[in-house]
Amino acid sequence: MASASLKSSPVLDKLEWVKGQSLRQPSVSVVRCHPTAAPSTLTIRAASYSDELVKTAKTVASRILAMDESNATCGKRLDSIGLENTEANRQAYRTLLVTAPELGKCISGAILFEETLYQSTVDGEKIVDVLVKQGIVPGIKVDKGLVPLPGSNNESWCQGLDGLASRAAAYYQQGARFAQWYPILAWGWAETLMDLRCFYIDFGLGFCNMQDNGLVPIVEPEILLDGENGIDRTLEVAQKVWAEVFFYLAENNVLFEGILLKPSMVTPGAESKEKASPEKVADYNTVSLLKRRIPPAVPGIMFLSGGQSEVEATLNLNAMNQAPNPWHVSFSYARALQNTCLETWGGRPESVKAAQDALILRAKANSLAQLGKYTGEGESAEAKEGMFVKGYTY
Ligand code: 13P
Repeated sequence: MASASLKSSPVLDKLEWVKGQSLRQPSVSVVRCHPTAAPSTLTIRAASYSDELVKTAKTVASRILAMDESNATCGKRLDSIGLENTEANRQAYRTLLVTAPELGKCISGAILFEETLYQSTVDGEKIVDVLVKQGIVPGIKVDKGLVPLPGSNNESWCQGLDGLASRAAAYYQQGARFAQWYPILAWGWAETLMDLRCFYIDFGLGFCNMQDNGLVPIVEPEILLDGENGIDRTLEVAQKVWAEVFFYLAENNVLFEGILLKPSMVTPGAESKEKASPEKVADYNTVSLLKRRIPPAVPGIMFLSGGQSEVEATLNLNAMNQAPNPWHVSFSYARALQNTCLETWGGRPESVKAAQDALILRAKANSLAQLGKYTGEGESAEAKEGMFVKGYTY
């Protein structure tokens, strides 16, 4: 197993971490109440990483760069700029992202694909070390990709529960401190939702495995924006999904202070004629969905961008931060941070700096938006173009 490459973690320094490894006790202790004291057996999870998880979640619940495209998805992104999907090209692109000067001033965490967690930059420095030097907490995508869900209406399901505990421990040792589990829900699920308990049970178990091994889980059942439905229908599905997810997280005694939530925004379907202003999107998300479903113990709600244009994603986030919220409402965008950056780079070494500037521009705009201070001035026409791709997956 590779040894930890952290120089000084933004969350925990290496000495503290190494010391912690040898001192940690088995991760879960179980307290059983006497039957006369309570009507049923009460199990209380007391993971040895609890304090660290809470600290990590607070640190990361600020601004996340999602750069966890699987090699196949990264290939599609590279293909869009005429590059072959080789390890060298993926490495060049990821190097460009993590070495963007002062990225750490506007990004607090970066979600990596497994290849990147173990990868070095083109100059031979470990990507994890570069992130830590920037003051960015490394995270990891822990699922093992999507497979068709048998008997469903072309739905997919993500694999990866088997062996998750040992993988999580290895990722922690490699420097990851938070993790994303990425199942996708498309519209067909709404009808059969109540029959899909296994889906949520996986969630609960998966998150216990991650927390028991020191990783803050990002709860992300993405509800795809594909569809002609209006915003009310999106809200209906999202309300059902989040009620179930939090029920099973609670049933599994997941530590809510040590998780982050990554929802897709409640908007009209991408193929709908209905349009919603940022104010309406904000109202549907914060008032009608999140405040009714998400406990205030959860430190951060980090939205994905889901194919919205770069500017749309920023405007919607900004609108959600015009009034106080019980959790920090921010971003964990991939496309809405990277799109112009990737196109500006185009694989040309001489365009690296311009591409990094484009990334920083978006990261700064969204940094303002998570404080409700984004004005939208001076945005390019390119940044206003939608990026919706039907059935897009990571
Ligand atoms: P987008 O912001 O491109 O929708 O990415 C979401 C995501 O979950 C990546 O981890």
